[in-house]
Amino acid sequence: MKRRRRTTTIVPAGPRHGGDQPAATRANRGPAQRADQVPHAPGTAHTRTMDVPVLRWLDPPEGPAIALLDQTRLPAEEAIVICGDVAALEDAIRRLVVRGAPILGVAGAFGVALAAARGDDVAAAAEAIGGARPTAVNLVWGARRVLAAYQRCLEAGPEKPHHQQRIAAQAALDEARAIAAQDAAASAAMAAYGLPLLPPRGARILTHCNSGALVSAGEGTAFAVILAAHRAGRLARLWVDETRPLLQGARLTAYEARRAGMDYAVLPDAAAASLFAAGEVDIVLTGADRIAADGSVANKIGTYGLAVLARQHDVPFVVVAPVSTIDFDTPDGSAIVLEHRAAREVTFLAGQAIAPLGSAAYNPAFDVTPAAFITALVTERGVAQPVTAGNLQVLDTRPGARDSALTETSMER
Ligand code: MRU
Repeated sequence: MKRRRRTTTIVPAGPRHGGDQPAATRANRGPAQRADQVPHAPGTAHTRTMDVPVLRWLDPPEGPAIALLDQTRLPAEEAIVICGDVAALEDAIRRLVVRGAPILGVAGAFGVALAAARGDDVAAAAEAIGGARPTAVNLVWGARRVLAAYQRCLEAGPEKPHHQQRIAAQAALDEARAIAAQDAAASAAMAAYGLPLLPPRGARILTHCNSGALVSAGEGTAFAVILAAHRAGRLARLWVDETRPLLQGARLTAYEARRAGMDYAVLPDAAAASLFAAGEVDIVLTGADRIAADGSVANKIGTYGLAVLARQHDVPFVVVAPVSTIDFDTPDGSAIVLEHRAAREVTFLAGQAIAPLGSAAYNPAFDVTPAAFITALVTERGVAQPVTAGNLQVLDTRPGARDSALTETSMER
């Protein structure tokens, strides 16, 4: 379907380097920097996204510990939270200090390595971390992968138990680092696979929630594709759903888009329908928190509504996620456990009640989009199009999974 281009009125985002940003704090030991200090030569495309690492491992004497960029405080300030034990990390994960599927996998991995480095009960730590948020499958995936590396080393070693435990703790840390490196590489591969799916130039992309460098050891999932488009001069505008109730779009995606120098505008979630109706969206790109074996995608609440709108308006709806987000043990969308969060996240805004005190709220963190609504799934191993159980199986890297999967041929690589 050919869409008419119309000019839509947007409220300017404010001066790129003006005084509209609150000063950043340098909390704890992080190399915090004001968001508006990103080097920028006027007139040039500047594509830098993050200065403060989203997650950092601290060795002794500072650690062992995990330093997290506190995403609950963005964009106002870039503050660091130090997690010195698994309980602190669990709390940070529940409060969304660190959030978004791939980085939760990395956080879960380093959390188990932390337990090992401290000599804590590593299996119990993996269990506790994996349960901190039930929908994002990467969390449990990362935690289990490091636990397995730890246990393998512990069981295999000839050393005395105490010494072997130290060697196993190092193996756990090495595995966590490998997961982070693989995530960064996956991010780059997804950007490369996703870019050709966009209109050749001047794409107006709508995205939901946050899927950039804040959720990844690399440049993210859907946002990595958007960034690639921006760098290639193929992004006309990024439409950023504010993403109620916790505003990951307005607070975090806009933060990343602004730092990257993109032309972007934030819209209330409720405005998306009229944006489609005005013919202002060429493609929708989102990430995923868990993808069932049948291709159903759990992602931030509101994603399903966008998929329905995209179908209604004949706009491609593309999901970008690493293979680690596909849960082959979950057969379909109805089997995905959806996290429900506190009523207060809906009934309060910035600490102020916006509904009568005591109001009940419906606050699922995620919804499920059936595979039939998804035009393509971009992964680091290729593009599944159409999104079918058979095409997903081609991506399955578990031992023993590949032989049967190779019968399927409709993958694009
Ligand atoms: O509740 P959040 O902020 O952790 O939800 C995150 C999302 O829904 C993202 O869209 C998702 O993790 C995919 S991006 C990697």
